Amino acid sequence: MLNYVLDSAEATEALGARLAARLRPGVILYLSGDLGAGKTTLVRGLLHALGHHGTVKSPTYTLVEPYQIGDWRLFHWDLYRVTDPEELDFLGLRDQLDEQAILLIEWPEQGQGELPAADVEIALSYVGEGRACQLIALSSVGHTMLADLLAPVIAHQPDHSASVT
Ligand SMILES: Nc1ncnc2c1ncn2[C@@H]1O[C@H](COP(=O)(O)OP(=O)(O)O)[C@@H](O)[C@H]1O
Ligand SMILES: [Mg+2]
Repeated sequence: MLNYVLDSAEATEALGARLAARLRPGVILYLSGDLGAGKTTLVRGLLHALGHHGTVKSPTYTLVEPYQIGDWRLFHWDLYRVTDPEELDFLGLRDQLDEQAILLIEWPEQGQGELPAADVEIALSYVGEGRACQLIALSSVGHTMLADLLAPVIAHQPDHSASVT
């Protein structure tokens, strides 16, 4: 488990960018936390770091926004407004899994029973004016991603924003 203190929206985006460098096809990330906790901000940093040049808008109404970046397909879901998790298959969830797409899923608890398991759960919460972020690995791929996230920090310089528990 990794814990970060994120003092600004830029720090949230920077964490997304660092995660981007550890992604691989088929990875599934859950993003949990209250409205405004920074889930979409983290996804924005991640997609821009991968080379997406356009805007990253919240899929609040569309439920899912697709991205093609190089050879990779990514789908950014926001399940806040889902009333019946069975909607997700109509929106292509099953096909996305078949094509080894990367899934970034806000409000995963709203898709209970229909969603694939996550590799990493990212939990954002309010702390004063900023945010805290907890990253939990839930698969062997997820463990590798989080180990890699920490590895260069240990090798080079101390990163005082991160703590391991
Ligand atoms: N670490 C942070 N500190 C302060 N504000 C932040 C931080 N991360 C994100 N924000 C701000 O919080 C607001 C809501 O972020 P958003 O990513 O849309 O939240 P969510 O998707 O969780 O509802 C935005 O204005 C964003 O700039
Ligand atoms: Mg959002």
